Amino acid sequence: MKFFIDTGNSEEIREAAELGLLDGVTTNPSLLSKEPGDPYENLKQICAIVDGPVSAEVIAVDKDGMIAEARQLTRIAENIVIKLPTTREGVKACKTLTEDGVKVNMTLVFSPMQALLVAKAGATFVSPFVGRLDDISHDGMELVSQIGRIYGNYGYETEILVASVRHPLHVVEAALMGADICTMPAKVLEQIFNHPLTDIGLEKFLSDWEKTKQ
Ligand code: G3P
Repeated sequence: MKFFIDTGNSEEIREAAELGLLDGVTTNPSLLSKEPGDPYENLKQICAIVDGPVSAEVIAVDKDGMIAEARQLTRIAENIVIKLPTTREGVKACKTLTEDGVKVNMTLVFSPMQALLVAKAGATFVSPFVGRLDDISHDGMELVSQIGRIYGNYGYETEILVASVRHPLHVVEAALMGADICTMPAKVLEQIFNHPLTDIGLEKFLSDWEKTKQ
């Protein structure tokens, strides 16, 4: 499973990249709005830090506006992926951009039918928002499982990018379901490294080793 980081913060991205396990970045307008400076300059900086895809979202809500904005965003760097909202206009823009060879990440996906639509439109990535579904008492990971089955039935190559990840269990479940990618905030990327038994075990090994010197 590929690991993406979900942030607009260059420092978090640099630290994650240093792990050697980072496959890409997802941003959105809310994440970029938290960072100082020009968001397009920030995106340029982010694209230089990682080799993998960097999702940048359009603000336009009509097909033509989305396409025009996508054309501008793709000029920022070769690894920019265009993030489009999964609306009627977004799906139409996805079809056009994909036919032109632009990689598209369809975002704000909350139902299996939306996922089927974006696969038919040729999306490179589909982003089911699991945490936001959990927030309203729907099982976010069940959506990922349904998308996996639907794509498997028809051989769609759209990659399942699990988004709106809130805790390590989402990452575990994504991997068990065979999701292609999990994008996680820096906090979750940090949390998945931790296990108290590893810390306790290491402490014991080191203190036992000290005894050999007495
Ligand atoms: O990048 C999209 C997504 O991961 C947002 O997550 O936590 O705002 O629901 P969240």
